[in-house]
Amino acid sequence: MTQKKSATWLLGVFSQARELSFEAGNMIRRQWPLASSVAHKDRIDLVTETDLAVEKFLKERLLELVPDSTLMAEESYSGEALGEWTWIIDPIDGTTNFVHRHPFVAVSIALCHNGQIVTGIVNIPMLNECYWAVRGHGAFVNETRLHVSHTRALDQSMIAFGIPYSIDKDLEEWISHFYPILPKAQAMRRCGAAAIDLSYVAAGKFDGFYEAGLRPWDVAAGWLLVEEAGGCITRYNGEPYYLGAYDIVATNSLIHQELTGMLLS
Ligand code: IPD
Ligand code: CA
Ligand code: CA
Repeated sequence: MTQKKSATWLLGVFSQARELSFEAGNMIRRQWPLASSVAHKDRIDLVTETDLAVEKFLKERLLELVPDSTLMAEESYSGEALGEWTWIIDPIDGTTNFVHRHPFVAVSIALCHNGQIVTGIVNIPMLNECYWAVRGHGAFVNETRLHVSHTRALDQSMIAFGIPYSIDKDLEEWISHFYPILPKAQAMRRCGAAAIDLSYVAAGKFDGFYEAGLRPWDVAAGWLLVEEAGGCITRYNGEPYYLGAYDIVATNSLIHQELTGMLLS
């Protein structure tokens, strides 16, 4: 049965979820100076005990915030579909960064209602930056409102990109997208955490970001951040993005056509 909820209710849920993202961030901070036990999900796809501990903590606490909500979380995902209310969680986006103690690691939490993200939180504990958005209320970092950049051309743009764990199999396809953009953009950057890439597009630090092979937990929170900050998100071919789509391109809107044109060339 569809549950109708008020805007005040949603703001309350968001605020409690943000508190939980701070607690999760503190778990990461406490582990920072200590050694982590690392396991391989694949050749270069890692998981640490901290990924698992943060996910367990968030799972238990987030499900209590919205009655009958379900959860889609990276480390325990086993093919569940979205429900009416679903929490979409990446306990640590940037696990490889975490293993190397590079500070670009984020806790990403989104709440999805009937397929639409209604709140998104990307907490970057080692930088003391918490990016967040509530649908219809704008996007923020800590308490500062965000807006995408005003850059109008690719040759004045800083473009972020990702490298999938399947790069050994997908190298040619990956290069075919990177190759034309590299000499045209002003600069290109790789964060190693898609949630941070999207947050930085929302903040106007990056003018655009593209990656293929991402999963819903990598992008759910950042998607809302970019849209609430005035940006645009589509597939490489310009069609509407949906959770689980193979590729994603996020921009300040102004360079969207130029960047998607390069991704298709
Ligand atoms: C990864 C990061 C990375 C992206 C990978 C993701 P993880 O997530 O977002 O930037 O390039 O495709 O899987 O494994 O660190 O949670
Ligand atoms: Ca991730
Ligand atoms: Ca992760």
